[in-house]
Amino acid sequence: MVASGTFGYGFDAPQVDRTVLGAIVSKGTTLRPREGNAPTRIAETPSGMLNAIGLQNPGVDFVARAYAPRWATWDVPVIVNVAGDSVDEYVAVASRLDGVAGVAGLELNISCPNVESGLQFGIDPKMAAEVTRAVRSVTELPLIVKLTPNVTDIVAVARAVEDAGADAVSAINTYVGTAIDVRRRHPILSRGSGGLSGPAIKPLALHAVWQVAGEVHIPVIGVGGIMTPDDALEFLLAGAAAVQLGTVNYVRPQAATEIHHGIGAYLVEHDLPDLRALPIRPAGVLSHV
Ligand SMILES: Cc1cc2nc3c(=O)[nH]c(=O)nc-3n(C[C@H](O)[C@H](O)[C@H](O)COP(=O)(O)O)c2cc1C
Repeated sequence: MVASGTFGYGFDAPQVDRTVLGAIVSKGTTLRPREGNAPTRIAETPSGMLNAIGLQNPGVDFVARAYAPRWATWDVPVIVNVAGDSVDEYVAVASRLDGVAGVAGLELNISCPNVESGLQFGIDPKMAAEVTRAVRSVTELPLIVKLTPNVTDIVAVARAVEDAGADAVSAINTYVGTAIDVRRRHPILSRGSGGLSGPAIKPLALHAVWQVAGEVHIPVIGVGGIMTPDDALEFLLAGAAAVQLGTVNYVRPQAATEIHHGIGAYLVEHDLPDLRALPIRPAGVLSHV
């Protein structure tokens, strides 16, 4: 899959061969349109990048009316990434998308602050479960919950959303980071901090997947710093059922094709029937490593 926020709504990368994708995950979508943060919103860092886009998007109504009918004609499923600042907002977005032709599933971005507490939904197992349960009750669509790594115990949050009805989890969203322009003596990003992605976070993301996949019984989608077929294979071996590619799409738009072919070649070379043969231990057997 291509990861949320790095592939827009699927319309801007005609050179990518969509047939190699398991799914396209859309940009984070909110109830009302959002203009996002003021520039500067992106900073390149060693082996990665920081972003603080601020959830720029046209709002769920536009997505459902203008984009979904086009997706419905495609041969690849589109999963809408959903964001909000209250449980009610997540529920309203999910309800608007339920039953809309062209929308194949939802991915909840729970790295958003809850206006009531100011804390991100995804840092607290109770809040993460509450939003998951509320969305679950208004939609039949496959429901993926995207975990934030900026927590002490990611496994606790993964278990909580599994119990609340998530069909899968994706792990992980970006790590919070900062970069400072020493000449201007000012943070580079207008918001001061942003989300770190790219190869810099790969071992951290892989560890999160390794931990979560050992403890939940729903599929885990691995995401974070994947650049090559071997990177993707590491996640699949660690227990991920699928992977998402994010930052690499900016560097090599053909990466999805290369990685898809590379995984296929590995399966042939090692005489493995399919991806399910890859995880190096079954789910639910690991305690914290
Ligand atoms: C520019 C940019 C925008 C992003 N926007 C979203 C978003 O709207 N919703 C979301 O859940 N994740 C978003 N992400 C996080 C990615 O989907 C992914 O989880 C993260 O970048 C780690 O993967 P990577 O290292 O392969 O990029 C964004 C990432 C980037 C780089």
